[in-house]
Amino acid sequence: MSPLRITRTLPEDATGAALRADVRTGLTATPKSLPPKWFYDARGSELFERITELPEYYPTRAEREILLTRSGEIAEASGARTLVELGSGSSEKTRHLIDALTALEAYVPVDVSESALTQAGQALVAERPGLDVHALIADFTAPLALPETPGPRLVAFLGGTVGNLLPAERAAFLASVRALLAPGDGLLLGTDLVKDEATLVRAYDDAAGVTAAFDKNVLAVVDRELGADFDPDAFDHVAVWDAEREWIEMRLRSRTAQTVKVPALDLAVEFAAGEELRTEISAKFRREGVASELASAGLELTHWWTDSEGRFALSLSTVR
Ligand SMILES: C[S@@+](CC[C@H](N)C(=O)[O-])C[C@H]1O[C@@H](n2cnc3c(N)ncnc32)[C@H](O)[C@@H]1O
Repeated sequence: MSPLRITRTLPEDATGAALRADVRTGLTATPKSLPPKWFYDARGSELFERITELPEYYPTRAEREILLTRSGEIAEASGARTLVELGSGSSEKTRHLIDALTALEAYVPVDVSESALTQAGQALVAERPGLDVHALIADFTAPLALPETPGPRLVAFLGGTVGNLLPAERAAFLASVRALLAPGDGLLLGTDLVKDEATLVRAYDDAAGVTAAFDKNVLAVVDRELGADFDPDAFDHVAVWDAEREWIEMRLRSRTAQTVKVPALDLAVEFAAGEELRTEISAKFRREGVASELASAGLELTHWWTDSEGRFALSLSTVR
């Protein structure tokens, strides 16, 4: 069994510096916001896994159905010998794809969550002794240095995570993925699709309150890392559908007028009663929009698969 290799591509203090910069920018802006990557410490990654099992959270089940039924076709179309997965988390659904990719030699999961990468990587090296697993602790929105592995390469970005990027960030991200691909390589992209508002809002505001706990976890991260005094109980979790932009917004709404101190930044942040802090957008897509965003990045959509209820899509695209 080859050992699990884990490479941290960020300098040791880069995460701290990036968190400080994001918190300062986001909490002094109007309206206030924080980027979603800060949800994912060990507790945040665990809470996300619990979200994927909730009855209201259909995207994981829908995408798993597509992977279960289409992995053979994906394998045939890509012929991949290396699978790179961005924002891999638990790599749970990816196992269907790994099993189908008969020529696969290397798996490169990339995530900011060290705990998720370590757990998933250790399980995979034990389950698939012939597979070279080389995990990267990295931010996929920054330039990526991938290890030398055999081509063709398939880059997978599952879970609808691409929808967490704002449109301009998405364009830059897709261009950077395109730059990682050589002729013959492919991008497998999971996109949640536009659907009725009630289904969407329920998926981001479940009855058991797991998504609310996940949302508030970002406050616990800022408290722990920057010595802030956010009281998670002083905020309510809200999920709102923006019909014009076709995205869900998760927000934390201040229950009262309050001042939050962030000593590491020498910052005092005023919240009015009812003021909201945006913590995530989750854009929903249509086929034409996905094809056109891929084309703008120099990628051509060659395959489009949806689950049996048409809720979620996986697309395969190649270098044009
Ligand atoms: C919505 S979860 C999806 C997880 C998994 N791909 C799935 O489909 O269930 C997003 C994942 O991306 C990771 N992530 C979020 N922002 C990231 C970033 N900027 N760079 C690297 N990983 C990131 C999180 O740690 C998490 O594992």
